[in-house]
Amino acid sequence: MRAATCLLLCLFLSVVDGAVQLARQGRAVQDQAKLRQPLPPRLLAAGRRLLHQLLPAAIGDLPYLQTLTFRKLTNVTGPVQPAIAKLNHLKSLRLDHLNLTGSVPVWLSTLKNLTYLDLSFNSLTGSIPGQLADLPNLDALHLDRNGLTGPIPDSFGRFGGKFPSLFLSHNRLSGQIPASMANYNTDFSIDLSRNQLQGDASVLFGAEKSVLFVDISRNLFEFDFSKIAVFPPNMTNLDVNHNRIYGSIPAAMAELDLQFLNVSYNRLCGEIPTGGKLQGFDSSAYFHNRCLCGAPLDSCK
Ligand SMILES: *[C@@H]1O[C@H](CO)[C@@H](O)[C@H](O)[C@H]1NC(C)=O
Ligand SMILES: *[C@@H]1O[C@H](CO)[C@@H](O)[C@H](O)[C@H]1NC(C)=O
Ligand SMILES: *[C@@H]1O[C@H](CO)[C@@H](O)[C@H](O)[C@H]1NC(C)=O
Ligand SMILES: *[C@@H]1O[C@H](CO)[C@@H](O)[C@H](O)[C@H]1NC(C)=O
Ligand SMILES: *[C@@H]1O[C@H](CO)[C@@H](O)[C@H](O)[C@H]1NC(C)=O
Repeated sequence: MRAATCLLLCLFLSVVDGAVQLARQGRAVQDQAKLRQPLPPRLLAAGRRLLHQLLPAAIGDLPYLQTLTFRKLTNVTGPVQPAIAKLNHLKSLRLDHLNLTGSVPVWLSTLKNLTYLDLSFNSLTGSIPGQLADLPNLDALHLDRNGLTGPIPDSFGRFGGKFPSLFLSHNRLSGQIPASMANYNTDFSIDLSRNQLQGDASVLFGAEKSVLFVDISRNLFEFDFSKIAVFPPNMTNLDVNHNRIYGSIPAAMAELDLQFLNVSYNRLCGEIPTGGKLQGFDSSAYFHNRCLCGAPLDSCK
């Protein structure tokens, strides 16, 4: 056990130290200065309890780093290492499936070249800093599976550059989707599922949007579904199950090339429009509503 622990720590430190030496020799101006967790999983169990901090502050001595990935080390606790703030060439920062605590640092918004930020599957708390919308190059923001509270920042309707895909599921976010998100558009995904968000989510839809995946399931959203006249034309996946959505399923939904749909456990009524993919889903995509009817549910009386 002791030998294995030493081996773990020595390996860990020598990798970091090696990388630091490299930087000091001025040879770190590389397109892909990748620093990855190199340890065999077998050894991790032994050393886990000794690693109180995820990354040593020496990481700040690697100013040319563009990619930093540390993931899937359970029982590693502590805040996001503040020295990462010095790595202003970073394009990709992945610190996921760890057990990071504390808040999502505001200083992340100074890493202007970030295209990918993943802090998912941690124990982060506090609210989402609105300053993250100052990141002009972000393609994807993963803050899902944490203990985040408070609202979606108003600034998320005004991202500095393009709009990133947003993964905010499995937190304790509350309040309404900010009205500014009517401007929000991404060509991939928005996942707000399993929070305590409420009010109207219809701002996420519209003909001008290019979003493919929308998941707002398991929240407290309450709005009239019928009023959505047009969905994003390329939308393939829509999950709104377990909310308080009322009205009927819009006819426009039959025009979509949907691969996945789930509107179950809401307060919808009326006939399921016929056409498109709508009759291809099984009844569980529609069940537990107030009075939906028509195929694949029972025919309307
Ligand atoms: C995460 O850390 C907390 C508090 O330090 C601890 O109670 C919990 O067991 C840890 N969970 C994992 C998966 O490491
Ligand atoms: C994390 O730590 C807790 C408490 O020390 C322990 O019960 C749990 O088994 C650990 N989890 C892992 C994946 O090592
Ligand atoms: C950010 O990226 C741009 C374009 O690739 C580059 O010119 C600039 O030097 C980068 N800034 C930093 C701090 O790496
Ligand atoms: C939908 O997809 C087509 C084909 O990929 C593309 O040309 C079009 O711009 C997309 N529409 C929107 C609104 O993103
Ligand atoms: C829809 O979601 C409900 C609730 O999570 C689930 O029971 C049902 O199996 C799902 N159906 C489909 C087709 O996804």
